[in-house]
Amino acid sequence: MSTMCLKIQTSHFLIVLFFALLNLGLYMFPNYTNTSKTAPMTTLDRHSNTQCKTTASLQLDRHSNTTNRSCLYLSTSFTGRIGNQMFIYATMVGLARAQNRMPFINTGGDLLTIFPITNIRTDINTTGWSVIGESGYATFDSKFMNLPQRNLTLAGYLQSWRYFLHAQDEIRREFTFVPSIQKEADAVLASCRSQLQNHVIVGVHVRRGDFVLDHKQKFGYGVANASYFVKAFAKIRSLLPNQNITFLVASDNLTWCKDNIKDTSVTFLPERDRGIHFAILSSCDHVILTSGTFGWWIAWLANGISIYFEGYIKKDSPLEAGFTSRDYYPLGWIGLGN
Ligand SMILES: *[C@@H]1O[C@H](CO)[C@@H](O)[C@H](O)[C@H]1NC(C)=O
Ligand SMILES: *[C@@H]1O[C@H](CO)[C@@H](O)[C@H](O)[C@H]1NC(C)=O
Ligand SMILES: *[C@@H]1O[C@H](CO)[C@@H](O)[C@H](O)[C@H]1NC(C)=O
Ligand SMILES: *[C@@H]1O[C@H](CO)[C@@H](O)[C@H](O)[C@H]1NC(C)=O
Ligand SMILES: *[C@@H]1O[C@H](CO)[C@@H](O)[C@H](O)[C@H]1NC(C)=O
Ligand SMILES: *[C@@H]1O[C@H](CO)[C@@H](O)[C@H](O)[C@H]1NC(C)=O
Ligand SMILES: *[C@@H]1O[C@H](CO)[C@@H](O)[C@H](O)[C@H]1NC(C)=O
Repeated sequence: MSTMCLKIQTSHFLIVLFFALLNLGLYMFPNYTNTSKTAPMTTLDRHSNTQCKTTASLQLDRHSNTTNRSCLYLSTSFTGRIGNQMFIYATMVGLARAQNRMPFINTGGDLLTIFPITNIRTDINTTGWSVIGESGYATFDSKFMNLPQRNLTLAGYLQSWRYFLHAQDEIRREFTFVPSIQKEADAVLASCRSQLQNHVIVGVHVRRGDFVLDHKQKFGYGVANASYFVKAFAKIRSLLPNQNITFLVASDNLTWCKDNIKDTSVTFLPERDRGIHFAILSSCDHVILTSGTFGWWIAWLANGISIYFEGYIKKDSPLEAGFTSRDYYPLGWIGLGN
């Protein structure tokens, strides 16, 4: 069975995106008063009752004693697409919150098309600031947790959950989809749920695209093949016994998926704008990801069971040099191979 949940209209999306962009001004100053701070405080939060507060954190931290001491800033700039930009932004916020700095970026990049992120400052010129770079693109670098006392610009891909776990409440708020996109995702999921009463819905993100090209393969990008999905589905079924499960598959290559992912519980989402796929999959109960940072963020935002593909970065490849699995994949995520 492979039912399309709902035909998503491209024109509709363009219209809602247009209104989303129009509305962004409003979301720059969100009201967080209803947000409860539930995550446990880590030792990294211990300095947070001094200077460098944003509107958001002030409201979350009523007992703070803000002073007028001059503020140190932490900036960065974007590289890559949405998944990369999310890591860069999250790490900037995480490192700044841990060290009492003001995080900001000059432009919101691609993120602004889907998230109303708030730490944007166009009025600060970072020319002449020291730039601090990473030692590996997906390896936690402890030097970032003890930054020199001056205004700084972070450079790199900064792909480790360890840079921002302590600030995850704020980061999850920042990565809340603009209402128009979330609404469209909710409509797709509601349609699925109405056809599939009481099913657990597992989002499956299948990244193929450029990763299958020869030069990317040689560089070290691995792609999941059919056997990975058989294992991942079996793992989910074993973790959720006696449940009806639907695997909702989204991919940049639907043809490959239909030819290779053969399971009676699969529903394929039509090929679609990345932002909409992102919102749909990250609103699922659990996530199976394959390769790439985009899938990583889908799983992180969904915050259920996360199964990742162990072969994403190939052994003994150039890419493996900067990659440390335990820094990249959060504790509790389950790795499986082909
Ligand atoms: C805030 O700091 C000032 C100056 O150090 C101090 O006098 C004041 O008592 C503090 N207020 C609170 C609520 O801690
Ligand atoms: C602190 O900042 C406030 C608002 O900008 C200002 O009114 C006040 O005079 C400042 N206090 C000191 C001690 O600089
Ligand atoms: C930032 O400052 C530098 C040097 O002062 C200047 O060349 C550059 O145009 C400025 N950038 C912006 C965006 O104002
Ligand atoms: C950091 O940058 C801000 C904004 O440009 C500036 O006001 C502040 O003086 C700078 N601090 C240091 C220590 O350079
Ligand atoms: C699973 O689906 C079947 C058939 O629709 C239904 O009878 C059963 O109650 C469902 N099980 C659960 C746990 O929802
Ligand atoms: C999708 O995958 C098939 C089979 O691997 C391949 O032939 C085709 O070129 C791919 N299409 C795209 C758009 O990447
Ligand atoms: C899947 O990948 C594994 C290892 O990467 C390989 O051994 C296996 O032959 C592949 N299967 C198919 C059907 O491509």
